[in-house]
Amino acid sequence: MIRAIYPGSFDPVTLGHLDIIQRAARNFDELIVGVLNNQSKHPLFTVEERVKMLKEVSGKILNVRIMSFSGLLVDFAKEEKANCIIRGLRAITDFEYELQMAQTNSILNSEVDTMFLTASNDYSYLSSTTVKEIASFGGNIEKFVPKEICSRIYEKYSGKR
Ligand code: PNS
Repeated sequence: MIRAIYPGSFDPVTLGHLDIIQRAARNFDELIVGVLNNQSKHPLFTVEERVKMLKEVSGKILNVRIMSFSGLLVDFAKEEKANCIIRGLRAITDFEYELQMAQTNSILNSEVDTMFLTASNDYSYLSSTTVKEIASFGGNIEKFVPKEICSRIYEKYSGKR
């Protein structure tokens, strides 16, 4: 059984994340989507809300499991018997941070490898931060996030405008 972990904040999940989940799931026996539980990042959604949204949008992919984690990613990977970390790469601007994280993780645990999937052209500009900014101004986010969760994002900003 070859198991991989796709970790992230997913605050909220975007169509770019979903594309990586679908493509990674095709290449591994099991894919665990690991949602970081880190209050110091002040996420818009609680970790429970982020896990729930991910379950709703990727529930039909049978070999995908959604879990939250706190602490070090390599420890979570070891606990879940996963020896591969998947990260999406959108542009060269992502690369420096991703390389630093991959190298750090490989020093922390040399048995865990990081593999990168390049973002599909359709989503190479997209980030959760952009989605939140557009939603905060009442803009249309339908092209950026799964339709099931659009209203959930707007709700977070209702009353704040
Ligand atoms: O979606 P993000 O915010 O870019 O994901 C970042 C994430 C969750 C992959 C990263 O912050 C992480 O792995 N955090 C866990 C703590 C950790 O293991 N840090 C050491 C690696 S640099």
